[in-house]
Amino acid sequence: MEFPFDINQLFSERVSVLDQTLVAGRTSTGMPQLQARIATVIDELGRASAKAQQLPASITSASKLQSQRHQLYLLKDGESNGGRGVAVGFLKVGYKKLFLLDRQGVHIEAEPLCVLDFYIAEGVQRHGYGLELFNFMLQHKNLEPVVMAYDRPSPKFQSFLAKHYSLTPSVPQANNFVVFEGFFLNRPAAQ
Ligand code: ACO
Repeated sequence: MEFPFDINQLFSERVSVLDQTLVAGRTSTGMPQLQARIATVIDELGRASAKAQQLPASITSASKLQSQRHQLYLLKDGESNGGRGVAVGFLKVGYKKLFLLDRQGVHIEAEPLCVLDFYIAEGVQRHGYGLELFNFMLQHKNLEPVVMAYDRPSPKFQSFLAKHYSLTPSVPQANNFVVFEGFFLNRPAAQ
């Protein structure tokens, strides 16, 4: 996704980790234009993700990121667009308290890291960028994908998880979250 400003000026790393401050690890003092441009990138990617998933409204925007304790991993391609760079996609994660059903139908309370939104730009899906971004997040969080929960994974994302991490089938839940068989391993047995 191209923008009328230099993506490389906003994001120095190939993958940037953004949080409530929106400034990719820099200090926000005296950088209102930088912050506004980062907000534009997040808002545009959030809109495109909602459209791709046929959602009525964006679940990712700069203002939502500023008000929630989530983390957004943003992947750029710094060489494209005449060296100004393009935003390739993003992955948003956050901890959520969930009531889940294990294989035996027993209720379990857990607060796993959840994948909340995930998007790779239309023209470059199925090029391995999603895997690069997801693996970066796993390494950054030092987690295995099976211990995470997934908020309404789309068919493409379910296929992605099955292909790259052999995550299939899932344990049916009463809410919109999906967890996989191994999620319940290593948990204390129900009393
Ligand atoms: N149809 C079916 N499976 C797909 C598709 C597609 N159009 N695109 C990607 N996949 C899956 C397949 O398993 C594919 O392997 P294959 O090509 O051998 O069939 C695999 O992903 C490819 O892996 P990557 O290239 O690393 O994935 P990509 O860069 O395309 O990123 C993502 C995956 C994020 C799901 C991307 O396709 C996308 O943005 N899709 C549209 C938005 C979306 O559905 N996001 C998930 C929302 S749900 C949530 O966030 C909790």
